[in-house]
Amino acid sequence: MILLSIETSCDETAISIIKAEGDFPNATYTILGNALFSQIDAHKEFGGVFPAIAKREHIATILPMLEKALLESGLSPAPAQSLFPDAESEIHTLLYREEDLAPKVLAFNQTWGNPGIDAIAVTSGPGLEPALWVGINFAKAIASLWQVPVVPVDHMEGHILASVFKDNTIAAIQFPALALLVSGGHTELILMEKWGHYTKVGQTRDDAVGEAFDKVARLIGLPYPGGPEIGRLAAQARAEELPPYTKLPQPMLHSGDLDFSFSGLKTAVRYAVEGKTLTDGEKMALARDFEDAAVGVLVTKSMSAIKKYDALSFILGGGVSANHFLRAAVATFYAPETLHSVEVYLPDTSLSTDNSIMIGLAGHARIAESLSPEVFTATIKADGNRSLDVEAD
Ligand code: KG4
Ligand code: ZN
Repeated sequence: MILLSIETSCDETAISIIKAEGDFPNATYTILGNALFSQIDAHKEFGGVFPAIAKREHIATILPMLEKALLESGLSPAPAQSLFPDAESEIHTLLYREEDLAPKVLAFNQTWGNPGIDAIAVTSGPGLEPALWVGINFAKAIASLWQVPVVPVDHMEGHILASVFKDNTIAAIQFPALALLVSGGHTELILMEKWGHYTKVGQTRDDAVGEAFDKVARLIGLPYPGGPEIGRLAAQARAEELPPYTKLPQPMLHSGDLDFSFSGLKTAVRYAVEGKTLTDGEKMALARDFEDAAVGVLVTKSMSAIKKYDALSFILGGGVSANHFLRAAVATFYAPETLHSVEVYLPDTSLSTDNSIMIGLAGHARIAESLSPEVFTATIKADGNRSLDVEAD
């Protein structure tokens, strides 16, 4: 089958066209087209993502991304079919809140009849609701014109699948598996008994670790998004063996459970820099001190969780999995000599941060489940706080 997948949960507008041969998790995937627009420039001046601006940017770029992915795919448009009765008013109703998009979608449909897409997968949560709705309404409009079902996808399940996507297949992971998901909005440990069965066994009580990276970066005057900047400075500090700038706490390290907290760490950084002008060397040292503290907690808690649940696989996913120090720590800490043999899965760095390939893979997983995708289309809603746990029942 050929899937169109759409991701608009935060500040990336991404669309992919993926051919799946076989059933999940044994299918072979071919990425026919992949288009991604990052809104970083629009958010940079505010130092973070503003939902209303994210929504506006998604509305402006989603159709160009679809056109780009389609052209790259080499698929040919079916001749435009005459519109079903009421199609125009239906598209205008579906895209009521995305002003300007309805006429553009209708014009697009005149040149692009369905080129062979069987289903549309779209992120329905978690994320920023105004941003999620753009993807969902757009998916419904295209699905209505092309007469295909829409499958809602959990963004975090997408991150898990991105991490196990190897050589165009889903790696044959051993269960139970444990996933550490680290992004701008999430820090959670997920126990997986099998595909589609997720239990949250630990989570942050306040800030997500990616949010802490971004806030600390801001405190030391680095541009948004700060995560990669912190990583870059920290690596320089290690290469130059700079002495510690300050001693930072590792919150909840010995809390006895699998929860996290990062707001105290961020506050400690704030106190350490307040009223001071840091030299470049001090910024590097502080970035390294912060990264050491944050990654230290992530690694220690993951180890405890692996032991507690006798996990045979460990999956690192989410935007912060692009962090080199975390990747290296996870890869060595879980070597067979320190624990029983745990297979570690890291996403390809191109799939660490938000993308739509992972949404297509998660959509395919959904379709493999007992529910027919037809039942989804009408009821799909954005759910900003959607939790992977829901799938456990
Ligand atoms: O998964 P993602 O792309 O978007 C969300 O779903 O939130 O994650 C974005 C987060 C941001 O906080 C960003 O700073 C962080 O991932 N991030 C990094 C790195 N690359 C992205 N954090 C640390 N080191 C990196 N190299
Ligand atoms: Zn994400």
